[in-house]
Amino acid sequence: MDEWVRRQLAEDPSRAERFQLMCDLFPFPHDATVTILDVGAGYGPVSMFILDRYPHATCIAQDGSEPMLNRARHLVAKYGERFKLHQSDLFEVSWLPEQFGPFDAAVSSSCLHNLRDFKRIREIYGEIRTHLKPGGAFLNADLINAPTAALRQRYDGVAATRRHREGAPAEDLAEMVRHGRRSPATATRGPFPATLDQHLAALKAAGFKDIDCFWKELRRAVFGGYA
Ligand SMILES: C[S@@+](CC[C@H](N)C(=O)[O-])C[C@H]1O[C@@H](n2cnc3c(N)ncnc32)[C@H](O)[C@@H]1O
Repeated sequence: MDEWVRRQLAEDPSRAERFQLMCDLFPFPHDATVTILDVGAGYGPVSMFILDRYPHATCIAQDGSEPMLNRARHLVAKYGERFKLHQSDLFEVSWLPEQFGPFDAAVSSSCLHNLRDFKRIREIYGEIRTHLKPGGAFLNADLINAPTAALRQRYDGVAATRRHREGAPAEDLAEMVRHGRRSPATATRGPFPATLDQHLAALKAAGFKDIDCFWKELRRAVFGGYA
């Protein structure tokens, strides 16, 4: 996990553009007093991004992993009552910290694909929708499958070309394969639980409106809708 966190931290500057987009899509102004649910918050990068820009916001960082939440715990010292931790397993019916809701927005970053269970993800969309205020936003930045086998191959080709252009030495890649580690490029290869179209359909079935993909690059996307 340490290696994963290190890699994510290194990627945080580029992830910040997506986090900013999520904030720009919130249905409230910067000075609003709001409560935001961060699903699979991990070490808290999305919550931290929001709390730095919304001085009256409270973020509830939900995650199933105690070590991950421990990494986020230092944010309690920084933000006090504006940052709360909630440990629960997304496969449990009662995972949602409803005592802090209803929420003005819910966000999730790089989490739900880990469940590897699209049926459960569809249910979670419904559970989030039920706990949003009218007009509240759900914004999910996650990994998705390519829509066709041909595009999957093409995306693999793009990833390989980028890797080459960025100068990843062949021996480093061979080493990663030998040790069963995934390079950043293969880490986005999948298969993931669903395509973008399937996610958008699931959001519609969960009762969201104004559903869209707000940003996409190969197998990464930011999508969501409003309650
Ligand atoms: C890839 S990390 C993303 C963390 C953070 N949102 C980010 O963008 O850096 C995925 C997170 O999902 C959490 N997670 C995975 N499966 C879960 C489950 N079944 N219940 C609760 N959390 C889970 C993991 O503990 C981990 O913190």
